[in-house]
Formats: sequence, structure tokens, C-alpha cells
Amino acid sequence: MKILTVSYSFTGNNEALAKSVAKELAAEHLIVTEPKTRTMGGIVLDMLFNRTPKVQSLPNKWGDYDLILFFAPIWMGQVASPIRAYLKELRVNSGRYAFASISGGADGGNPKLMSELNKRTGREPIALIDLPITSLLPQDQQAARKDTSAYRIDEKDIKKLTDTILQALKDKI
Ligand SMILES: Cc1cc2nc3c(=O)[nH]c(=O)nc-3n(C[C@H](O)[C@H](O)[C@H](O)COP(=O)(O)O)c2cc1C
Repeated sequence: MKILTVSYSFTGNNEALAKSVAKELAAEHLIVTEPKTRTMGGIVLDMLFNRTPKVQSLPNKWGDYDLILFFAPIWMGQVASPIRAYLKELRVNSGRYAFASISGGADGGNPKLMSELNKRTGREPIALIDLPITSLLPQDQQAARKDTSAYRIDEKDIKKLTDTILQALKDKI
């Protein structure tokens, strides 16, 4: 099985997780980068106006992967904008894909992700795995946005989250 992981990360969490999962799956790993420095203001504007920012290294052709596994943060209930151009590519490239995220979760879940992925790619992912940071915090801690935004996953978290993703994909790949 030939798998490509594609990750975008603003503060490092999703890249660290993608790297670990790619290693376990012996997958190629493509890291999405932007030519312009990303700012908080840019995040908000992208989300409000549904902008698709320019990214580097957009492949001309995906090649013959059996699965493309995306990782990106969730911003304002949506998939982070730098991954949008890649999701759009799936409209012209058939094949299976999955989406995983280490998100914040301070406002509860992100219920619109499935319909967003459907809309952007034209089909459903084989798996949508939203892993909130709140699930890594002590049970008695009422996590606020500032706590989840400041949280950087460590080796122990990465191991736990990698196992969760592999488990979720087990019967599908
Ligand atoms: C502007 C902004 C908006 C966010 N909105 C959400 C949200 O709607 N839902 C959520 O679960 N997490 C949200 N988060 C939290 C991030 O998804 C979370 O911190 C993630 O782990 C960051 O990933 P990264 O380190 O790969 O950039 C938001 C973070 C930022 C900076």
C-alpha cells in the first residue's frame, strides 16, 4: 500500500503527529509550506472570506497513491486554509483520502468538518479523525482556548495519538 501523508502545521502539533504516523505507515511525507509568513490576522481573514492561500510545492500530479492522509489544524471550525489547495486537487485526482487533526477542542467538537471536506474534494474521506487537545489534559481541568492554543504535544502524546490514528485506519488500509 502506497501512502502519502500531507501535513500543514502552524505551531508544530500536526506536523509532529504526521511525521510519527508517516513513519509507522512507511509513508512519504509532504510538508505544506507558505511563501508568506502566516499571521493570526491572516488566519481570521482566510476563514471569514473562504480564501485559498498560495502554498509551495503543490504537486502537478499526485501519482498512484492508494491513500492520501492529510493532517492540519482546525481554525474557527474549519480545516486550516493552507491545506485547501491540496484538497481541491482531489477533485481532479481520484483516489482515497483521510483527514486527521490534533485540534483544540475547547469549544466542543468541530461538527462541520465532514461537510466541508465533502464540499472541497467532492467526496467523503475514508476516515475523519479529530483528536482534541482537551482529551490530553487532566479530566478535572476546564480547558479554555488559551490553554489549548498554548499546548504543544510531547513524545508521550504523539505516541498515544499515533496509536489512535493507526487503530482508526486499521480496517481501512
Ligand atoms: C485562530 C485559531 C482558531 C482555532 N479554532 C479552533 C476551532 O475552531 N476548533 C478547534 O478544535 N481548535 C481550534 N484551534 C486550535 C488548533 O486547532 C490547535 O491548537 C492545533 O493543535 C494547532 O495545530 P498546529 O500546532 O499544527 O498548528 C484554533 C487555533 C487558532 C490559532
